[in-house]
Amino acid sequence: MKKIAVIGVGRFGTNLLNTFSQLSRQGRCQLVAICDINPETLKRQSEKYGVRGYLDYREMLQKEKVDAVAIATPDPFHREPVLYAAGLGKHIFVEKPMDTTVEGCLEMIQACENNRVLLQVDFHKRFDPYHREIARNVREGKIGRVEYGYVHMEDRIEVPWKWFPGWAPRSSPVWFLGIHFFDLIRWIIGSDGKRVYATGKKWKLKSLGIDTYDAVSAMVEFQNGAAVTFDLSWILPEKFEAIVNQGLRLVGENGMIECDTQDRGTRVCFEKEGVMTYNLGFLSEGRNKFGQIEYSGYGIESIADFVYNLEYLDKGGSVAELANTISGLGRDGLEATKIAVAVHRSLETGQLQEV
Ligand SMILES: NC(=O)c1ccc[n+]([C@@H]2O[C@H](COP(=O)([O-])OP(=O)(O)OC[C@H]3O[C@@H](n4cnc5c(N)ncnc54)[C@H](O)[C@@H]3O)[C@@H](O)[C@H]2O)c1
Repeated sequence: MKKIAVIGVGRFGTNLLNTFSQLSRQGRCQLVAICDINPETLKRQSEKYGVRGYLDYREMLQKEKVDAVAIATPDPFHREPVLYAAGLGKHIFVEKPMDTTVEGCLEMIQACENNRVLLQVDFHKRFDPYHREIARNVREGKIGRVEYGYVHMEDRIEVPWKWFPGWAPRSSPVWFLGIHFFDLIRWIIGSDGKRVYATGKKWKLKSLGIDTYDAVSAMVEFQNGAAVTFDLSWILPEKFEAIVNQGLRLVGENGMIECDTQDRGTRVCFEKEGVMTYNLGFLSEGRNKFGQIEYSGYGIESIADFVYNLEYLDKGGSVAELANTISGLGRDGLEATKIAVAVHRSLETGQLQEV
């Protein structure tokens, strides 16, 4: 049974902890230690999950006998812990975006190859059953060659403004949101990015003291000719019905597919909260028939997939074989980052950019 440590146990790191704890209870892995540079976060999480806590991941990885690490530090801070852990021969699960530079991704891939460890990126959109069905239909040629498409992913403004104003200026709606769908579209259509034109605004968040893009519209042409426009923003009003709004459509020579991946049909209105819609398909905290807490959803499945991959490797499987599965690996992280980097270059230059 593989021993796992988590680095960065803030808001999303909690989902990693919930998933690995759940799998620990099922005897499929063992969550042994966590690390966070914030002492309060570290204390709270290590008490809650009953694991040893460290302020420094180097110290943790020197002292603890772990086989694998999962990393959920802020967007620009994935590279160092990945390189350090890979150097010690640990398998790695890293939150998206793998890195915010192409050089960083290449360095991470090389380090993991040199040390013969798995490098997996959390691209949970691949695990959404609606997306899997879209991918199957597209791959079976149901809509013919994809000619064009459209994606929107928008967060409520509290995400950059109140959740992580400290590091939002070092990220963007492209890094935080777009990266999910760059990977998803690339995975569905089986083609890498070719060139990009993007335009964006820095109005609202800048007026609130956060220097990052509010919204970016990017048209990405893929190698196979498909042209997909991505509208990415994180300034929806706090009163919007859900924390995220998202969807996609793809149109091919023989058909089309549309998917609203936010509003899955449940709508409530409570006096205090107002109107709300849910996407329980992503993350859901329920109770099993014995009353124990059970986490489910594609957001959990995508993390659990790392543990299943460790089991696969343990039984003699290879990382190369995993590259042909639903798991997002290092090369997928790199290709999504290449698109995001080209989007930012286009924003800065106002010109069409090669991916
Ligand atoms: N897969 C998803 O759906 C999803 C959703 C949200 C966020 N994320 C990703 O997860 C990552 C974390 O986002 P978040 O919302 O949890 O941010 P957060 O700010 O809530 O948490 C990040 C944590 O990392 C800690 N940290 C920073 N540097 C560290 C270091 N060197 N060593 C140890 N700990 C360190 C911080 O103290 C903080 O507790 C980001 O890359 C983000 O894009 C993924």
